[in-house]
Amino acid sequence: MSENKVRWKSPSNIALVKYWGKKGFQLPANASISFTLSECFTDTTLSWVETGSFDVEVELHGEKSEAFKPKVEKFFNNITERYPILSRFTFSLQTSNTFPHSSGIASSASGMSALALCVCSFLDQNELLKQEFYREASYLARIGSGSACRSVYGLLAEWGEHPDYTNSTDEAAIPHVDVHPVFNTYQDTILLVHEGQKSVSSTAGHALLNNHPFEDQRYQVAGSNMTRIKKILATGDLDEFCELIEYEALMLHSLMMTSNPSYMLVEPNTLAIIQKIREYRKQNNCHIAFTLDAGANVHMLYPERDIDKAKALIDTELKQYCSNGRYICDKVGQGPEKLKC
Ligand code: DP6
Repeated sequence: MSENKVRWKSPSNIALVKYWGKKGFQLPANASISFTLSECFTDTTLSWVETGSFDVEVELHGEKSEAFKPKVEKFFNNITERYPILSRFTFSLQTSNTFPHSSGIASSASGMSALALCVCSFLDQNELLKQEFYREASYLARIGSGSACRSVYGLLAEWGEHPDYTNSTDEAAIPHVDVHPVFNTYQDTILLVHEGQKSVSSTAGHALLNNHPFEDQRYQVAGSNMTRIKKILATGDLDEFCELIEYEALMLHSLMMTSNPSYMLVEPNTLAIIQKIREYRKQNNCHIAFTLDAGANVHMLYPERDIDKAKALIDTELKQYCSNGRYICDKVGQGPEKLKC
């Protein structure tokens, strides 16, 4: 083996049509599609020594992390059947996120994709990869966290079998390429409404969709929204785009509110921001729209040509609803990058 260390940075992503609900082991109940981000990413270095048995040490932002370690151990356990070689090595993981730990931005997509890419580099050096590099990285990332499988590709990634998406599969994401140029520079400003841990994890949220009274309807709507968004992404119809992504975000949160037990991750300031965005869009002839992930923060999505308007909207109306006035300016990105150790 030539090297015993590898380093990858991998971005977060924001879903346009949401993955919500699972079947089998880490397989999605419906297809989803997301923008890959650029500024919010995880930087992970993985090193290894052959010791004859498995162990892993985890450092987050330069300090031993007992909180993150069980997730990493579970990930390795879950992929060892596919790659038994992993059981003979002691790994050490050093990882850091560009976005603040307390920001309420989920780090699982960037964190698990960065880890999966590192593991793939390790396997590649040993000539053991079962599939093409990025496809396998996406496959392994999915096992760590579903949405992570989409972070492996730049710009837009689709995950989950759907008749309109050629070669789509539940096992891994695929890059989505039939895209109007307006989306190449799309902006995502993340308005931080709630900093800190959310009250119900996404994993628990997915489980609450089983036997939910709207479960079947959700999967039907998600499927038809995937058909609609494919056309929107190809034609660049931004009126339709705004309507669709907002509908998806609100549907996701309405499913949480109507789960048993019911729960709510949006906060009064989330709703205030949403209303301001809608009012502003109506009055200012622009395409500033919102989406939400499983939390209170608002992702404000807009084309590059609306940057000045978005800035004005944030400064005059939205900042007051953000925790400590904080927001993160991000945009679509080119996907993960292998770095020098
Ligand atoms: C609302 O990927 O975090 O962000 O597979 O249990 O790790 P696990 O869940 P996770 O769920 C993400 C849910 C979502 C929608 C999305 O990203 O598609």
